[in-house]
Amino acid sequence: MFKIFKIRKQIDVPQAPAGGEMPRPDPMLQLDQERQKQLAREEESKHKQLLEEEKAFQQGVVSIRDIIAPAAMRVESHYLMLNDLYVRTMFVMTYPRYVTIGWFAPIINESLTLDIAMFFYPMDIALVLKQLRNKVGVMEAEIIANHEKGAPRDPIAETALRDIEGLRDGLTQGTEKFFQFALYVTLYSKSEEELNLASDQIENLLGMQLIYSRRALYQSEQGFNSTLPLGNDELSISTNMNSSPIASSFPFVSSELTSEDGILYGINRHNNSLILFDRFSLQNANMVVFATSGAGKSYAVKLEILRAMMLGTDVIVIDPENEYQHLSEAVSGAYINVSLNSESKLNPFDLPRGIGGDTKPEDILRSAVITLKGLIRLMIGDVTNAEDSILDRAILETYAKKDISASSDLSNITPPLMSDLEDILLNMEGGEDMALRIKKYTEGTFAGLFNSPTNIRVDNQLIIFSIRDLEDELRPIAMYVVINYIWNIIRSEMKRRILVVDEAWIMMRHEDSAKFMFALVKRCRKYYLGVTTITQDVNDFLTSPYGNAIVTNSSIQLLLKQSPAAVNLIQKTFMLTEGEKYLLLESGLGEGIFFAGNKHAAIKVQASYAEHQIITSDPRQLLEIEEAKKEFEEAMIAENSGEFSGPSRANLMTGRPLTANQAANQMSGPMASR
Ligand SMILES: Nc1ncnc2c1ncn2[C@@H]1O[C@H](COP(=O)(O)OP(=O)(O)OP(=O)(O)O)[C@@H](O)[C@H]1O
Ligand SMILES: [Mg+2]
Repeated sequence: MFKIFKIRKQIDVPQAPAGGEMPRPDPMLQLDQERQKQLAREEESKHKQLLEEEKAFQQGVVSIRDIIAPAAMRVESHYLMLNDLYVRTMFVMTYPRYVTIGWFAPIINESLTLDIAMFFYPMDIALVLKQLRNKVGVMEAEIIANHEKGAPRDPIAETALRDIEGLRDGLTQGTEKFFQFALYVTLYSKSEEELNLASDQIENLLGMQLIYSRRALYQSEQGFNSTLPLGNDELSISTNMNSSPIASSFPFVSSELTSEDGILYGINRHNNSLILFDRFSLQNANMVVFATSGAGKSYAVKLEILRAMMLGTDVIVIDPENEYQHLSEAVSGAYINVSLNSESKLNPFDLPRGIGGDTKPEDILRSAVITLKGLIRLMIGDVTNAEDSILDRAILETYAKKDISASSDLSNITPPLMSDLEDILLNMEGGEDMALRIKKYTEGTFAGLFNSPTNIRVDNQLIIFSIRDLEDELRPIAMYVVINYIWNIIRSEMKRRILVVDEAWIMMRHEDSAKFMFALVKRCRKYYLGVTTITQDVNDFLTSPYGNAIVTNSSIQLLLKQSPAAVNLIQKTFMLTEGEKYLLLESGLGEGIFFAGNKHAAIKVQASYAEHQIITSDPRQLLEIEEAKKEFEEAMIAENSGEFSGPSRANLMTGRPLTANQAANQMSGPMASR
């Protein structure tokens, strides 16, 4: 809005002295006055000229209004053209008796370009009460008259009467106010068809809630003006409404992401509120994290792990980059190194023990056969249909060799090994070729990895499987075996758990492992498990059909800084607005958008000092922590031998491994615990 200030120049006019004789004009004085007038005229014309010049100058100055104004505008009866954009305003005409909270949110969440204006005109309560009293009188009289005539009772009239009485109570007690409410939506489209389609969409969305809207015909310009951020209601089409339903029209229910319980994910950048969430309260507890390298994906997830552990959630991590070792040390987790020469062994033939519920051994065996076939395809490459059925039989026979069949008691078995399968295949017709290809994993270079009985213990709240030291070729296979092993743990005992798969694109590179990952994400809800999938290779992940399905099956999505190459695909997949797209392109460390169900908000992931020490992967800081650790150990030795008598330093400052409890106690800052 613009306020115009007018400045008038005051000119002093000589006043005649009050009373007395008028002095005779003195010729000298007259001459002087003439001169003064002449001077004033000259000054005025100079001033005018100056004003003209200033006006001309102002016309040449480019103001913000010139920059934002369209080059041209054409007003049509059904729409308005703004440059080459088609613009149409719609207004809401009637509302139903009941509206739900956030009824307007679907319109905001629809990916359309639109401007919305809401006008609230407070009304004089006394006037409203008077009108309502008259109305009540008429309605009551009507009901009584009908009753006297012996007509059956009219529920519509009675409901209306009750509503009015309720409103009268509310208004009189001051718990309700009364308004006239105007709601306009202006749509912007590139073509007329698109505009009609968008208008239909809005009408449908509102119509679904029994709210009827109309298009502003022959008033396109007034409609457009009404939704400009100027506060001018040129349409003036309003509905009477009391405060409760008006409050329910507030559409921004999505920017509040605070729930009663859960952990702190970060700070809401819209309003600096906290994003507190319990992922297990959603439809499923899965999460995907997408960002470029170094944007803070692992950091955000590690922070979640630390905080979730405090609430008693078990966490299992597949760590391809040794990024979680420090975290594991800090909370005394189990860190299992999966590599060719590691002591830790995993047997892919393991079966889940003590599985609860009504799952029968034959189902378990069948699913194990399917999983193993997937694994063997990953190991030896494609298999033909004939080979596939041979493999099927061979796996069942391998189990049978160890007395494991559909009727066995699975709680007390010794699972077979890969070499057993190789033996069986060698002795089967048509299986020799496969046996030869498997040999590489039982005797060759890769032996020692998956051809031994499992020897790791998993009774820890945090278990991390590191696969960094594996050759690239072996990584998908190892991840597959590890996930299958984890899947067995999960099925054996029902517990609140999170499984984190970092750099999940490794799994997506092969169809079998991608399919496996997807199956896990789809089924884990029933086992009280939430899978977190982290990936930096957005294009590869989202172009894979399984990757896409994983995204749709994940209620929580965290998008941090994106690269320009990936941002368009991200925008399409997550239906982001242009503004959100640029927000992702320009995000700083740990900044992005957090989606939970159908709500989302801009987030900043924030750790306390103590948490940062545990989860950072900045090599410089890690070195400093290592140094401090060494220093601390030396000091401890010195203290034990009596040389050091000062107070021992806090674990935190020195980076000494903390226990889970210590870590929890030392965490300060905006923590989730209530
Ligand atoms: N929210 C944050 N606040 C402060 N520092 C952060 C934040 N997020 C990340 N960092 C720092 O940024 C660096 C990179 O973070 P991180 O390792 O999480 O990246 P990443 O996305 O997992 O990368 P990559 O894909 O390479 O694994 C780390 O040094 C980390 O300490
Ligand atoms: Mg990472």
